Amino acid sequence: MAFFKDLQPSASDFRADVLAGLRKPQKAISPKYFYDAAGSAIFDRITEAPEYYPTRTELALLDRIGPELKSLAGSGAVVLEPGAGSSVKIRRLLDALDAPSAFVGMDISGDHVKAACADIASDHPDLTVGAICHDFTQPLDVDALELPDGRRIVFFPGSTIGNFELIDALAVLKTLRDWLRPGDALLIGVDLRKDPAVLEAAYDDAGRATADFNFNLIRRINAELDGDIDPAGLVYRAFWNPYRSRVEMYLQAQSDLRFNVAGEPFILREHETIHTENSHKFTVSTFQDLARQVGLIPAHVWTEEGACAFSIHWLERSEKTC
Ligand code: TRP
Repeated sequence: MAFFKDLQPSASDFRADVLAGLRKPQKAISPKYFYDAAGSAIFDRITEAPEYYPTRTELALLDRIGPELKSLAGSGAVVLEPGAGSSVKIRRLLDALDAPSAFVGMDISGDHVKAACADIASDHPDLTVGAICHDFTQPLDVDALELPDGRRIVFFPGSTIGNFELIDALAVLKTLRDWLRPGDALLIGVDLRKDPAVLEAAYDDAGRATADFNFNLIRRINAELDGDIDPAGLVYRAFWNPYRSRVEMYLQAQSDLRFNVAGEPFILREHETIHTENSHKFTVSTFQDLARQVGLIPAHVWTEEGACAFSIHWLERSEKTC
């Protein structure tokens, strides 16, 4: 592997963020803390759950549009992936492209990204591969990485953009846009609105992978922040909120639950919740409107229709940016 950079957020951020979230009237924990090494492994199980259609659908769509992506990207492309989770999708993309020159994976879980990128490097001996432990909501000077000269493609699959509040999604799109020069592109997977029953099942699978993913947050808090939250006192809930066009995920107290985190006492009253995650769902045009607001021009969009509707967008940086 050509390089590994560790820009990992410090442990004190985890502590400060968790305490601030638990002090709110609607208790909340930032979802970025889902993805430690154990969480990343549980997330791989989510993507294999029969009810969780997005991964399968996006992969099939990627395969279908591979030839078009190849001609749009041209030869020698430089691919960057923020939040490089499981490497299945990036491998399909790299295989579809015409002799990509470099790949840079970034993830908040350093061990995960290092291992995934090392595997890619050994399977692609001609590719310059770098790994960065980085929180992609923070700025990054991509020019300082001294990458080869090809067209940059920022690959952001998995509808991760939907996990942000809309205002924050705009900020993330703006951050990614700043990595692009004119002619470069953001290739982004965006989940679409559909039957609420399909959505609720996708985020509450019968095999309990998603529930487990949520409980991993509690395990992390107990282990790393000297917490004593009794997981048996909590149940996992997911529901579709049509007014905000998103699936919302919570851990709910079955009865009054007292606990301490980092020496600070908290109470969750019976039925009170900790909000853990949102997954916003878009239509093609609501997403394109969002992109335009930060100077990203929708140049191509490919969709899968029906019960498992999903979209992949090719956005280009406009000359004028705000
Ligand atoms: N971006 C994925 C999605 O919204 C991530 C995801 C799937 C997720 N299931 C989750 C995030 C459960 C947190 C909790 O579909």
